[in-house]
Amino acid sequence: MASKGKYEAISELARRRGFFWQSFEIYGGMGGFIDLGPLGTKLKHRLEDSWRDFFVKGGGIYEISTPIINPKIVFQASGHLDSFKDPMVECQRCGRKYRADHLLEEAAGAKFEAMGLEAIDAEIEARNLACPECGGRLSKSRYFLTMFETTIGPYSEAIGYARPETAQGIFIDFKRLYEIARGKLPFGVAQIGRALRNEISPRQGPIRLREFTLMEIEFFFDPEEGCGALEEVEDEVLRLVPASLREKGIEEPIEKSVGEAVREGIIINGWLGFFMAKSKEFMRGLGIPEDRQKFHEKLPGERAHYSAQTFDHEVLLEDWGWVEIAGHAYRTDYDLSRHSAFSGQELRAFKAYEKPRVERVLKIVPNEARIREEFGEKHKAILEALMGARPEDVKGSIEAKGYFEALGERIGPEHVSFRTVEVKETGRRFIPHVVEPSFGLERIMYAVLEYSYSKKGDRIVLRLPRRIAPIQAVVLPLVNRGDLEAKAKSIWRALLEAGLDAEYDDSGSIGRRYARADEIGVPIAITVDQRSLIDDTVTLRERDSWRQIRVRADEVPARLRGYFSGDLDFEGMGGS
Ligand code: ATP
Ligand code: GLY
Repeated sequence: MASKGKYEAISELARRRGFFWQSFEIYGGMGGFIDLGPLGTKLKHRLEDSWRDFFVKGGGIYEISTPIINPKIVFQASGHLDSFKDPMVECQRCGRKYRADHLLEEAAGAKFEAMGLEAIDAEIEARNLACPECGGRLSKSRYFLTMFETTIGPYSEAIGYARPETAQGIFIDFKRLYEIARGKLPFGVAQIGRALRNEISPRQGPIRLREFTLMEIEFFFDPEEGCGALEEVEDEVLRLVPASLREKGIEEPIEKSVGEAVREGIIINGWLGFFMAKSKEFMRGLGIPEDRQKFHEKLPGERAHYSAQTFDHEVLLEDWGWVEIAGHAYRTDYDLSRHSAFSGQELRAFKAYEKPRVERVLKIVPNEARIREEFGEKHKAILEALMGARPEDVKGSIEAKGYFEALGERIGPEHVSFRTVEVKETGRRFIPHVVEPSFGLERIMYAVLEYSYSKKGDRIVLRLPRRIAPIQAVVLPLVNRGDLEAKAKSIWRALLEAGLDAEYDDSGSIGRRYARADEIGVPIAITVDQRSLIDDTVTLRERDSWRQIRVRADEVPARLRGYFSGDLDFEGMGGS
């Protein structure tokens, strides 16, 4: 694995300036948990707001909030109880536990996600892998369920799990949300919230956490209709690593426009392509260049159980290589079908035909007297089973085999006849399909910090995009003198009143205060000096260029608002 240079530098800055640090520090810390400090918390809110502005507002998308703890039935229905597990090995000398596929990945530099336990064991043996900490022998691999289990209330039988994704809360609420959307497709539902995964051996700070924040959209659509928004993004070029190439051992991305990739079937659904293009644009807006992004398709064996196609949106990080920051999955009708079956609730959508259609429908006509006579007490149950079956199946079976089997009894032509009737159908009922873009906030936060981390001489300058800078401006009296301080404080108050996130700082030399502002990514520093008292102007200093302009003090709030809304550039703030 690469040296930890950049990660160490960012972690050091993050701890010192209050972005993030390991949780439970005074008790020795614990892997997989981080605390966000004051700046980290602000940055988190900015990222959430940017995501909302970009994906949710005006996009036919509703945002909801649902519980973190869910009863067991939810994850039985969703399939997570059977599938949400990772292969684990244990060191037989020191007892440390490792995620087996990750150990192999580190040793071989390739992905091993799709392997079964036996294949993993064989690979570990062939590579003679030992415990990375003590060199001890490793046990055979076994599966570990990575959901946190708890009991709900004082009832040991009421088992609950912490959600590993926010998506299930959305699926469960589909019926109500569909009504809120006035029965029209497509529409999306977003959720930002905590997700918990009991990761086996997290060792990558904010990249692999046991408790983290997901920003997810479940986008519901009619699978018989195309993506109505593809035109908007079809010329966006994506760097794609399709499964068809990966199967041939090719991991280099190809470049394709989204339109082409969808038409050629590389991306199997238009909405999936739409959100991938948006995802790239979103990350570009956060300062991640396009050539440091790619979409890596999962092989069938690597995909989550619910997905017909998955692309990991990856970003290149200096110490960790290509890291997934968002997953784009085509979940089809899997989740809604399962919840419908487990809850017994109707979770279908209805689409009215333009004109009612008359359809010819096959009906079963049971000879009830004969069935009663022949099957006695069982006849009611048999009738029920018969009437619950598809008429085409009953007829087909009788024609092919001479009978249809219901509750172990043979139903022949003497028990049923068939009739075709004309029925007026006003529309079609179907389970909507879903694509899911799912973003991990902490990974994005780390990537954004890494890409904005720069050095000017021996100074750190955090070139955060201005939209997400936790502190937008800092007001600095040039020296500690009562009249300058009073003037600076009044400007600071005016900025707060104008809704800006501003700070006032009078501790230390002006040089040190600029350095601190640069380190925490404050885009604009406002300096109040002797001249300010005479002509009521102040100096604005831009973080990235260190250029300075002079602006009338009473115009600063409006100019800064223009700058942060993107209407003004730095030079423009000086204009009269
Ligand atoms: P990985 O393969 O890295 O474990 P995953 O495929 O399990 O990730 P998804 O299930 O697609 O990830 O989750 C959606 C997003 O949630 C990911 O793209 C990532 O940004 C984030 N995420 C997943 N697991 C973690 C974690 N343990 N810590 C922090 N973020 C995570
Ligand atoms: N909803 C994202 C995931 O669990 O894959």
